[in-house]
Amino acid sequence: MFDSTTRTVVVVGAQWGDEGKGKLVDVLAERADWVVRYQGGANAGHTVHIGDKSFILHQIPSGILHPGVRCAIGNGVVMDPETLFTEIDELIADGVDVEGRLYVSERAHLVMPYHKLVDKASAASKAIGTTGRGIGPAYEDKVARRGVRVLDLRNVERLRELVTLGVDRANAQLERSGSDVRASVDETMATLQALAPRLLGLAEDVGLCVHRAIKNGAAILLEGAQGSLLDIDHGTYPFVTSSNTTVGGAATGVGISPMALQSALGVVKAYTTRVGNGPLPTELEEPLQSHVRQLGHEFGATTGRPRRCGWFDGVVVRYAARVNGLTGLAITKLDVLDTLDELAVCTGYKVGNEVYTEFPADLSLLEKAEPVYEWFPGWKQSTQDARSLSDLPAAARAYLDRLESLCETPIAFVSVGTRRDQIIGVHATVA
Ligand code: IMP
Repeated sequence: MFDSTTRTVVVVGAQWGDEGKGKLVDVLAERADWVVRYQGGANAGHTVHIGDKSFILHQIPSGILHPGVRCAIGNGVVMDPETLFTEIDELIADGVDVEGRLYVSERAHLVMPYHKLVDKASAASKAIGTTGRGIGPAYEDKVARRGVRVLDLRNVERLRELVTLGVDRANAQLERSGSDVRASVDETMATLQALAPRLLGLAEDVGLCVHRAIKNGAAILLEGAQGSLLDIDHGTYPFVTSSNTTVGGAATGVGISPMALQSALGVVKAYTTRVGNGPLPTELEEPLQSHVRQLGHEFGATTGRPRRCGWFDGVVVRYAARVNGLTGLAITKLDVLDTLDELAVCTGYKVGNEVYTEFPADLSLLEKAEPVYEWFPGWKQSTQDARSLSDLPAAARAYLDRLESLCETPIAFVSVGTRRDQIIGVHATVA
């Protein structure tokens, strides 16, 4: 994927998150010098299976599992310092060498304990079905210009002022939500001051580090979290997360020029899933939905919530390909479909007499939309041992060919199992 001309690659989810980006980043990180997260926070859960071990990374880039790769958390991330150190300590306990190669942008905003309290108590968060990790409230404070950044930990007086304002606001919100829980300035300050020396030890001007690395010809992987349809601008608003998950967010969230991005790999499942509320036009009927959920172990890595499952939605992925400028697709979890008798792919949405083939902005249209399906025979055999396209059954290849033509993007990888080696590199240089 990285070659002499392609040195900066973005990996994004091109559905509603949980597409398997962790595995792709893990595979690609083998050739990377830097892996940088650019948005989201501890709402993400990137699962990587190595041998018998499973690692679920919430904030640390999945590249950390490769010795020698430098990892960074960019300014666009809202970072929860308490869970960051839990994650670091778990990795160290598992024998992963973290110290000295993990950096945190000094411009990154912090998720404070009171953001999490507000996220868990608010009716608005419940209506969206958020992860409760304080992401929305932290981004709200950022945009309202009252957030706390990593660099604020260097100035205790300034920190106390910001925390006092934040706690007062959060307590008023908690009261309005009918919650009895309250945040405390002293407890918040004590937590932050205990973490500050360790966190400040990781603080860097990440944009500058990555800029210098690019100038020196380093291979840079920018790791997105969530999916394109959860993007605050391009997703199924308001049923979205609070950041720009798409490629546009990668440059601002790392602090480098958009002109530096050379390639964008969109990760999609061979079907569709979504956690939380909001439209999912191709959602399966029961009992098929529960059956696919079991086959794909579709339960959230962060919250354990059952994921909603649907057929592959070509309208969604074509839209994501356009908004992101995808140069390649990675199709994951093809093996989950191995036992199904037949499969459907959505090519448009019928509303009244009209068929929409471009993803609409207006959710009221999506509510009325009836998916238009093309049906494919199942291949009814295991694909888990396939290591090249020619190892796949003809029916699986026909299915993939249709996904590729519908999404107008070449397939670069097909993943056929959870292990690192269960992957087919199609046109490794395309992405
Ligand atoms: P928030 O990001 O916790 O505010 O949640 C907003 C929406 O994004 C909810 O529907 C969540 O279920 C969804 N979401 C957030 N993070 C992820 C993720 O990593 N995978 C899938 N869905 C996510």
